[in-house]
Amino acid sequence: MSVVRGFHTASILANGLVLVAGGVNSSGTVNSAELYNPLTGTWMTTGSMNVTRKYHTASTLVNGSVLVAGGFNGGYLNSSELYNPSTGLWTTTGSMNDVRDYHTASTLANGSVLVAGGQDSNSGLLDSAELYNPPTGTWAATGSMSVARRYHTASILANGLVLVTGGYNSGSIVLISAELYNPSRGIWTITGSMNIARKLHTASILANGLVLVAGGQDTNNAPINIAELYNPSTGTWAITGSMNIARYSHTASTLANGSVLVAGGMSNTSVYLNSAELYNPSTGTWTTTANMSIARYIHTASILTNGKILVAGGNGASGYLKSAELY
Ligand SMILES: *[C@@H]1O[C@H](CO)[C@@H](O)[C@H](O)[C@H]1NC(C)=O
Ligand SMILES: *[C@@H]1O[C@H](CO)[C@@H](O)[C@H](O)[C@H]1NC(C)=O
Ligand SMILES: *[C@@H]1O[C@H](CO)[C@@H](O)[C@H](O)[C@H]1NC(C)=O
Ligand SMILES: *[C@@H]1O[C@H](CO)[C@@H](O)[C@H](O)[C@H]1NC(C)=O
Ligand SMILES: *[C@@H]1O[C@H](CO)[C@@H](O)[C@H](O)[C@H]1NC(C)=O
Ligand SMILES: *[C@@H]1O[C@H](CO)[C@@H](O)[C@H](O)[C@H]1NC(C)=O
Ligand SMILES: *[C@@H]1O[C@H](CO)[C@@H](O)[C@H](O)[C@H]1NC(C)=O
Ligand SMILES: *[C@@H]1O[C@H](CO)[C@@H](O)[C@H](O)[C@H]1NC(C)=O
Repeated sequence: MSVVRGFHTASILANGLVLVAGGVNSSGTVNSAELYNPLTGTWMTTGSMNVTRKYHTASTLVNGSVLVAGGFNGGYLNSSELYNPSTGLWTTTGSMNDVRDYHTASTLANGSVLVAGGQDSNSGLLDSAELYNPPTGTWAATGSMSVARRYHTASILANGLVLVTGGYNSGSIVLISAELYNPSRGIWTITGSMNIARKLHTASILANGLVLVAGGQDTNNAPINIAELYNPSTGTWAITGSMNIARYSHTASTLANGSVLVAGGMSNTSVYLNSAELYNPSTGTWTTTANMSIARYIHTASILTNGKILVAGGNGASGYLKSAELY
């Protein structure tokens, strides 16, 4: 990339380019954005956001624009902005009802974007959720989760429901619970709890409809190698094979052949990982694959249209990173 960054977002555009936006370097948050071209393997600077931000979300809308929402830049943010791939420019759109960072964002089947949870002050964790309506460019509150969550995951199931898992709550309680958002009713219901409480884990939808949750930190902030599977038809969780290395703040990408590639992350404070492993859904086992050339966490991983995985930026032993690599 042209600049170092971690805690940024990466979005695949309809034209195959990858938009990286915002994040943080050693001197603070950034508003710059850049595009990766898979055909040339090069990065090009594009328009900058109006506001610097990290811990934000980026969601690709049905019409191809990218919605960036919330985050933190010294203050908690409610602003959101749209990137137009045809002009390379950002425009400010509606503000959320709550300021929030480290929330999740999910583009629903009807085109609205659901954001959930996060933090709105140094002590305030959020159970609230809201919907962005692209035609009007406005946000409206929807049903709240049963508990406040940050460092959680959100996955859109094949049945259209949104599954939220884990995270932490006030008092730094790490959560074992999971809940489902029903877009047609606008409410959340509790579903089966995981076998282990976790935060800063990943959640990946498998081709068979199950959701693979991997790694994270447990109630003692210890890194986890345990993985488990959520079955949407029963609403229950089952332990599957464990990763070879416990990790959190890693990435997980579902490959075209159905395997899930987990890369990097942290294992204990200051132990940055270059390792990567593959989960095979048919055997329920993990195998170590090639290392990344640089150990990194809080990076992004994007599945390119050519099937390769682009890993970009993050933080590692030498500080924030500008390097990117392909699997
Ligand atoms: C951090 O980003 C800011 C804004 O883009 C830039 O001016 C500064 O040089 C960057 N600092 C480092 C250490 O990269
Ligand atoms: C950028 O944000 C500021 C507030 O932070 C606002 O006053 C200004 O209108 C915004 N600019 C654009 C182009 O949206
Ligand atoms: C967004 O946050 C700013 C600063 O905290 C506040 O002044 C503004 O009223 C908020 N906007 C909305 C729509 O809540
Ligand atoms: C997509 O829709 C949004 C909201 O209606 C609009 O602001 C934006 O310009 C549209 N983008 C494109 C690429 O047409
Ligand atoms: C999508 O569904 C939600 C929940 O029912 C609704 O609030 C929202 O307005 C819908 N969005 C669009 C763009 O129709
Ligand atoms: C998927 O592809 C990867 C990388 O080529 C390979 O290592 C893995 O074994 C494949 N998985 C399956 C389920 O075939
Ligand atoms: C993490 O720290 C614990 C306790 O200090 C230690 O037992 C363990 O080996 C460490 N793991 C790694 C991967 O460094
Ligand atoms: C990956 O890197 C680790 C530590 O940097 C090293 O111990 C290990 O042998 C490497 N594994 C492979 C498959 O190259």
